Amino acid sequence: MTTLPPILVTGGAGYIGAHVVLKLVERGHRVIVLDDLSTGFREAVQGAALVVGNVGDATLVRGLLNEHHIDTVLHFAARTIVPESVADPLRYYGNNTCATRSLLAECAAAGVRRIVFSSTAAVYGIPAGGKADEGTPTAPINPYGSSKLMSEWMLRDLAAAGGPRYVALRYFNVAGCDPAGRIGQSTKNATLLVKVACEAALGKRAQVAIFGTDYATPDGTGVRDYIHVDDLAAAHLDALAYLRDGGESAVLNVGYGHGYSVREVLAAVARAHGAPIPAVEQPRRAGDPPVLVAQADRISSVLGWKPRFDDLDVIARTSLAWERRLERAG
Ligand code: UD1
Repeated sequence: MTTLPPILVTGGAGYIGAHVVLKLVERGHRVIVLDDLSTGFREAVQGAALVVGNVGDATLVRGLLNEHHIDTVLHFAARTIVPESVADPLRYYGNNTCATRSLLAECAAAGVRRIVFSSTAAVYGIPAGGKADEGTPTAPINPYGSSKLMSEWMLRDLAAAGGPRYVALRYFNVAGCDPAGRIGQSTKNATLLVKVACEAALGKRAQVAIFGTDYATPDGTGVRDYIHVDDLAAAHLDALAYLRDGGESAVLNVGYGHGYSVREVLAAVARAHGAPIPAVEQPRRAGDPPVLVAQADRISSVLGWKPRFDDLDVIARTSLAWERRLERAG
């Protein structure tokens, strides 16, 4: 049997990338992680080689691709905080769009055959009715979403010109941590609801703000499609298998197809914690859609993806368990 070349995973020391690396390694893939550790963590990379560097460093990327005969790239490296993207748009177009352009140029030159790209539901902006399928017009409302959409376009146009085939996965609201407790979300200055709620549960912050209680939703708070990071990681392995089987390029939502409100999330974290989460009601946060839920049938039919953790309580429990572990580690 011939040994397959290693898979290059950019951003593999970050929250989502590290969960994918863990799964790849478990399945016997050889992995090289490229991460500049600007937001990632060295200790999150388990069982894979780590090269510390930036995905926009063409010389470094060229060397890695050629030296290891890499034919498959999973591209996660990006900045991902929406309000930060509004305050500093060029940083997002630089880190996310320009760096991706540089990576793709090197991939095309080195003959890379497949790319799995980490995209986002933020490409949809505020879709009518709050539900988005892959045909819903893209209309991002912040530079983060635009920076990712521009990367999708480059992938599409490059594939049409004979470049690598790709799967772009549009993530909805990723949450939860490795069910075995090995890695989790260690992000500093977190803004994502589940993480913030877990920090409030453990007294790492005084309270969680509920941004908006007057939306036209059942309990007045925002509704999102929260997907467990382990299921999201599995979707990447399915995408990889699909491309290796000759599947054509595809853009796919990754969500469960149903949503939970902010209050429901806080209640789930409270159940996991065994006590209420201190919360304070605040005005709406700028740029938040009232409802954003995936129409999520396509990924199951195209990739055969089967989620295992479609359960808000599992998301809350695994997130809280990791937060406790961070607390113990000091
Ligand atoms: C956004 C992006 C998503 C991106 C993610 C990470 C959009 C539509 N979505 O998700 O693509 O991957 O950021 O940056 O741009 N909330 C509170 N209190 C808090 C935090 C959040 O009430 O302290 C509420 C929000 O108003 C929202 C929900 O919780 O209704 C989820 O918010 P958050 O976790 O920040 O993610 P999104 O903004 O949905």
